[in-house]
Amino acid sequence: MIFIFGGSGDLNYRKLTPALYNLFLDNWMPDKFAIAGIGRSPYSDEAFHEHLLDGVTKFSRRKGKQNGHWTEFSQHVSYLQMDGDDASAYHKITDLVKQKEDEFGVHPNVIFYLAVAPQLVPSIATKLGALKLCAEKGTTRIVVEKPFGHDLESAHDLNMLLSSMFAEEQIFRIDHYLGKETVQNILALRFANALFEPLWNRNYIDHIQITAAESVGLEGRGGYFEHAGALRDMVQNHILQILCMIAMEPPVSFDANEIRNKKVDVLNAIRRISKDQVRDYAVRGQYSGGWKKGEKVVGYREEEGVDPQSNIDTFAAVKFYIDNWRWQGVPIYVRTGKYLNQKATHITLQFKPAPHYAFPSESAESWRSNLLTISIQPSMDISISFQAKRPGQTMELDPVKMTFDYDEVAGDHAPEAYETLLLDVMEGNATLFMRNDQVDAAWKVITPILETWESRPPQNFPNYAPDSWGPDAADALLARDGHTWINLPPAL
Ligand code: BG6
Repeated sequence: MIFIFGGSGDLNYRKLTPALYNLFLDNWMPDKFAIAGIGRSPYSDEAFHEHLLDGVTKFSRRKGKQNGHWTEFSQHVSYLQMDGDDASAYHKITDLVKQKEDEFGVHPNVIFYLAVAPQLVPSIATKLGALKLCAEKGTTRIVVEKPFGHDLESAHDLNMLLSSMFAEEQIFRIDHYLGKETVQNILALRFANALFEPLWNRNYIDHIQITAAESVGLEGRGGYFEHAGALRDMVQNHILQILCMIAMEPPVSFDANEIRNKKVDVLNAIRRISKDQVRDYAVRGQYSGGWKKGEKVVGYREEEGVDPQSNIDTFAAVKFYIDNWRWQGVPIYVRTGKYLNQKATHITLQFKPAPHYAFPSESAESWRSNLLTISIQPSMDISISFQAKRPGQTMELDPVKMTFDYDEVAGDHAPEAYETLLLDVMEGNATLFMRNDQVDAAWKVITPILETWESRPPQNFPNYAPDSWGPDAADALLARDGHTWINLPPAL
């Protein structure tokens, strides 16, 4: 039995119900299940189903195909009108659980999904915590969406609050990037192959880049973004999680805590920078008005819900170092931003140059370092670039690419991140969810940057144009080390 707080909201409409419906179509849902959307707006069950079907038609990976089973699925879905702030209304939840218990003939597992604005989480969690139902460690779970806290202190407070009412194994902190197939595949690439691991360290890798670029702007989320910014919105969670998977030590087993221990080790080993060093390690940006693929767009400060003097970052780039034996001295550059030239999330490991070059210099004019590129989205592939002999009578070398295309094997069968994550919650598997200490450790990594940026207003905002790759200072961050950002050709 799944209760979705924020049932009439955008996340449920675009992501959760399409994911649950796909799980149903793929026969992953149990025989007996019930889903209740909770919200303040009035909806009859029928009107709620219609609203959700619209979301499924527009946003499901099946793109409206196979909607033939919707009626069957929607019989499991109901709407509970209640105000999450009103403690006296929570009996509606226990009543419904009781009703389902009678219907199913067993006590159901109960999942509370908090798809609500972050400021509502403490109040709802506290009221849920007062229900006897929530003391049932084995059968009741709570799912909390990001952002998890606003800074180290508030994240810590939220963790304390949740753990005063729920056991850690009942709390599922979602970072949807961890549910992406291509992100999970990082572990397969690294730890199911003997080929890469011996090279995966400071002896062979020159530097690493992680790009999570978005071509969209705010999409009407000015109110939220004004309190977040790119560093909080993307780096603290998604990008640091990817970094952990790239940099972690091999796990001994696939046990949830083992994987999470190895990840938290990475976060704890990331070099802490002082506030005085922030300008050498981090770059912020904010987009101006301009043209985006032929369309005129307004600058961040002109967006709805945004302060016309806002100093919020819509772009962030950071250089990290991991102080351990494997990664000492290897820079890891990350960047993210709104209104960039492409939507593209990818990781590139650039290898060190070959130690000796025996070829005549003219044969290697187009020589370049070996690269291993993992594209997360929209392309889903892994490629290796290396030098090969140009066909012909002379010994000339060119860089060539060998690619594994995930799409070719997965077709449209690859589940969406939320499908994987919801199924994991139902099965009680926390491997892909963030543990409380991971969240704290990730906040600690970015806190000096956040605090410095907040106390020293930028002098040059807005400093990048829509459709660009961000501010010039982001290029300078790498140029100082003799590197350049690697952009991939747009996905077809
Ligand atoms: C969310 C951020 O967590 O991730 C958004 O709040 C961002 O600002 C989104 O647009 C990106 O997710 P995806 O899956 O489209 O890369």
